[in-house]
Amino acid sequence: MEPTAHPTHLKIQDAYGKIASLGGGCCGPSGCCGGARAGEIAQGVGYSDAELATLPEGANLGLSCGNPTALAELKAGEVVLDLGSGAGLDVFLAAQRVGPEGHVHGVDMTREMLAKARHNAAEFRRRTGLDNVTFHQGQIEAIPLPDASVDVVLSNCVLNLSPDQGRVWREIARVLKPGGRVSISDMVLLRPLPEAVRESVEALVGCIAGAALLEDLHRMVSASGLVDQTFTPKGEAVEAMLPVEDPMTDHLLGLLPEGTRPSDYITSLIISARKP
Ligand SMILES: C[S@@+](CC[C@H](N)C(=O)[O-])C[C@H]1O[C@@H](n2cnc3c(N)ncnc32)[C@H](O)[C@@H]1O
Repeated sequence: MEPTAHPTHLKIQDAYGKIASLGGGCCGPSGCCGGARAGEIAQGVGYSDAELATLPEGANLGLSCGNPTALAELKAGEVVLDLGSGAGLDVFLAAQRVGPEGHVHGVDMTREMLAKARHNAAEFRRRTGLDNVTFHQGQIEAIPLPDASVDVVLSNCVLNLSPDQGRVWREIARVLKPGGRVSISDMVLLRPLPEAVRESVEALVGCIAGAALLEDLHRMVSASGLVDQTFTPKGEAVEAMLPVEDPMTDHLLGLLPEGTRPSDYITSLIISARKP
């Protein structure tokens, strides 16, 4: 049975459903800037041209804030899970690394995103001959996979969208096998946001308003039982995600105190951790 949707889930599903249908967006203060800049944003947050060239068209929607797959050191035969898999960007990259003996699961709660990812999976199978990806509809707060079934959990710019990030971390710890690891890219706050930004739906959808404070993130990861946490800031990604001359960027900049930039408050982080 589908878990009940939180009001935040409904806002996110509405916005990302539209982004999937339009074919592009930005996980930045713009909320949605169209697909034309998707390649530029992906390069700005750490994907190489060579990686992007292997993807089915439309798998990269310009919604990422880092490249967690590149840092995950994936090995042939591993089972990987991508939380909030969108149109499948990291799923398809990971699938090429784990090869035919491995498997990559994507989980996303937005129907239109899943439809797009499954359409892209058919193209991926045709192009690569690999039949090792599955996209599941579900919430990352209640991951639809068994306990201790996954070697590596990936996620790219998604945990900040959850209304209960502590629960997501407990779910990550539950599905990981002992010795399993995490490589997650997400937006994290360096200091509290002004109230007007916290209340903005655009800032929520744009991966800013829901970001956790760094110290709270540290506490949630520890409480989940995962160990060896490392947090690597990728501040340059925040600027790469800001479309210039974009009405939504201007709107959000207008909510910040004069003279400050989003990067004064928020950074992109690669989070790694391990299940003992
Ligand atoms: C910013 S996009 C990132 C997509 C993908 N990771 C990428 O980098 O292209 C966020 C995705 O997470 C999904 N999502 C957000 N909150 C979720 C939740 N609580 N449970 C499941 N999926 C969620 C959205 O539907 C959307 O597809």
